[in-house]
Amino acid sequence: MSNKKIVVGNWKMNPGTVDEAKRIARKTRRAASKLEHTDAVVCPPFPFILAAASRKKYLHYHLGAQSASFETGGAHTGEVSANVLRDIGVEYVIVGHSETRREGANIGDTDETVSNRVIAVLEAGMKAILCVGEKNRDESGAHFDFVKDQMRKSLADVPKLRSQDVILAYEPVWAIGAKESMKPEDICEMAIFVKKIFSDIFGNDSAQKVQVLYGGSVNFHNAADIMKIGQVDGLLVGRESLNAVGFVELLKAVDEVKY
Ligand code: 13P
Repeated sequence: MSNKKIVVGNWKMNPGTVDEAKRIARKTRRAASKLEHTDAVVCPPFPFILAAASRKKYLHYHLGAQSASFETGGAHTGEVSANVLRDIGVEYVIVGHSETRREGANIGDTDETVSNRVIAVLEAGMKAILCVGEKNRDESGAHFDFVKDQMRKSLADVPKLRSQDVILAYEPVWAIGAKESMKPEDICEMAIFVKKIFSDIFGNDSAQKVQVLYGGSVNFHNAADIMKIGQVDGLLVGRESLNAVGFVELLKAVDEVKY
């Protein structure tokens, strides 16, 4: 386990107004500044990133984005480059979320575009939060091969030296937006598995340092158990990150977790 915990709030295509974005960000950064062992990262939609920033520096509060172009600049209508994100203060970028990978998605990610985005984010000097996870699972255990394949392809061209800036987010698609999270015992199994694959790709020393997050129906009630029993370094949170009251409680619960 790494000694620093991290909670990432993925706001997705929410909230509906800049005032609401400012309100959620304000509450989150106040709570984050009181944390001792945990970093909080908010990933608003692009137009709200600067609204979530503050002139004053808050400890343990960081800005993230939900994707980045793999192009560095120029004639790419509708895209936002990693360098521009870095320039406005973004430190983390979610890459390859299942909602950008799914068929018919606006962004339309494939393992290849995900790999290119990871490289672009790392080259711009930010950390890439790489999302992997199976769509469904059955008794056959095919999900292990699926996740392994996703990881290998999505990290295809990342040099070992840069692997320290990759954060792994295991998000089983079936647990996203659901009523309940995956069982913490099963999360533990997958956390060990993704570390093992990371070790096969980059070596044991890199795998010792990589942070593994879990995402999928995390809330302030289940956060501590997921961290402790699931043996993960952090959480990738959707709906609860927009509920300022719940998210503040979640941050406190995670900060108090002792492994
Ligand atoms: P929920 O927490 O709403 O299930 O979303 C999880 C997610 O997709 C975070 O990236």
